[in-house]
Amino acid sequence: MAKTVELIIEGKSYTLPVIEGSENEMAIDISDLRDQTGYITMDIGYKNTGSTKSAITFLDGETGILRYRGYAIEELAEKSNFLEVSYLLIFGELPTQEQLAKFTHDITTHTLVHEDVKKILDGFPSSAHPMGVLSSLFCAQTAFYPESLNPNRPADGVYLSIVRSMAKMPTFAAWSYKNNVGHPVNYPDNKLDYCARFMKMMFALPAEDYETDPVIADALDKLLILHADHEQNCSTSTVRIVGSSKASIYSSISAGINALWGPLHGGANQEVIVMLEAIKNDGGNIDKWIAKAKDKNDPFRLMGFGHRVYKNFDPRAKIIKKAADDVLGKLGINDPVLEIAQKLEEIALKDPYFVERKLYPNVDFYSGIIYRALGIPVDMFTVMFAMGRLPGWIAQWRELRANNEPIGRPRQIYTGSKLKPYTAIASRKA
Ligand code: CMC
Repeated sequence: MAKTVELIIEGKSYTLPVIEGSENEMAIDISDLRDQTGYITMDIGYKNTGSTKSAITFLDGETGILRYRGYAIEELAEKSNFLEVSYLLIFGELPTQEQLAKFTHDITTHTLVHEDVKKILDGFPSSAHPMGVLSSLFCAQTAFYPESLNPNRPADGVYLSIVRSMAKMPTFAAWSYKNNVGHPVNYPDNKLDYCARFMKMMFALPAEDYETDPVIADALDKLLILHADHEQNCSTSTVRIVGSSKASIYSSISAGINALWGPLHGGANQEVIVMLEAIKNDGGNIDKWIAKAKDKNDPFRLMGFGHRVYKNFDPRAKIIKKAADDVLGKLGINDPVLEIAQKLEEIALKDPYFVERKLYPNVDFYSGIIYRALGIPVDMFTVMFAMGRLPGWIAQWRELRANNEPIGRPRQIYTGSKLKPYTAIASRKA
């Protein structure tokens, strides 16, 4: 028999259906609540609110599980590569060899962006944060591909937009950096694979040879896999809500990039390094900074610690911690900031404040350290996160469209003034 729950409001009983997920997650279906009862539910920050049913990513914060389309993140990070994982997320199944070869080929042959994009780029001062540039360039694709604005595009048109998004993201990302440092942009070298091509566009200088170290390209590929999707987080929910108005894939993803930018979401990896540097420059007094993080009168938080969903450990943090050790070892880097990070983690994990609140290092605590080792500047960290998250955003946008979900439109409880009479002031009357 289908499960239901009983809700009693002012003595009257209502029966609400229960929705059960494939991993036995339970939801009370309140879709008809307002019509039936006149009440809405209140959940600021959506801590207990399911916004959709999704078959893309499964996450269990209590036991530290993350799976894409049923595959464990640990296995994908070890054995797969970013484009295969992207295909899996977007299209629902692991590709055959032919499917992967076609997807890779299609992406590789769309890496070039329209020359007029350079004119848009030229309009930005070099002080522009790369995330703002990235989101603008992404949204500008609606101008170069106006057919993407048609919400009823046939499947092959949508496929082309997906391929273009995946293909041009590294080009936009690298160009946002070049603008930031005031260097000429590099065109994509399609002989290289996804990560090596990106690194070359980032770091090659005119009249100099550049070759991506395979250790670096591998580490980057792993990082992108770890960030590829994370169910209904702030930026993904943004992509879905913008997409629900039938806005184009490019504008929906551009909105996601903006949502990711904030220091409580994707911007945290940048803030981690800023924090570690500050601790180092302050003489390395970790206890002082831990005390600051615990002080409710001090706005400082330990960046890279805590997670809305993971309350035990972040499985991505475990993988990335090992990857950080490997990369630093292989590249022979001895980073004093890493030492501070290790000590900070050790102290915080034993401190009752963090233990009681279940605050553990999240993926961003270590990703910044790897990016730093790869030579990626701090302002680019969140751009790297966006590059990784792109297939997840695309998959979620595609799922929303396939399920024909209604426009996202929450309710509110109004707490402002009741109706007041308007009195004109003398000057307004005149
Ligand atoms: N340092 C110190 N105290 C913290 C921290 C922190 N990093 N995170 C949470 N707390 C405290 C918070 O003050 C509160 O204490 P109390 O119960 O005494 O009021 C309690 O822990 C619960 O915090 P919350 O803000 O209600 O938790 P949340 O689920 O709303 O926030 C979070 C999650 C990730 C925004 C938060 O932990 C945070 O600000 N962390 C630092 C930023 C960060 O690392 N963000 C990256 C998240 S991982 C990447 C991603 O998936 O986006």
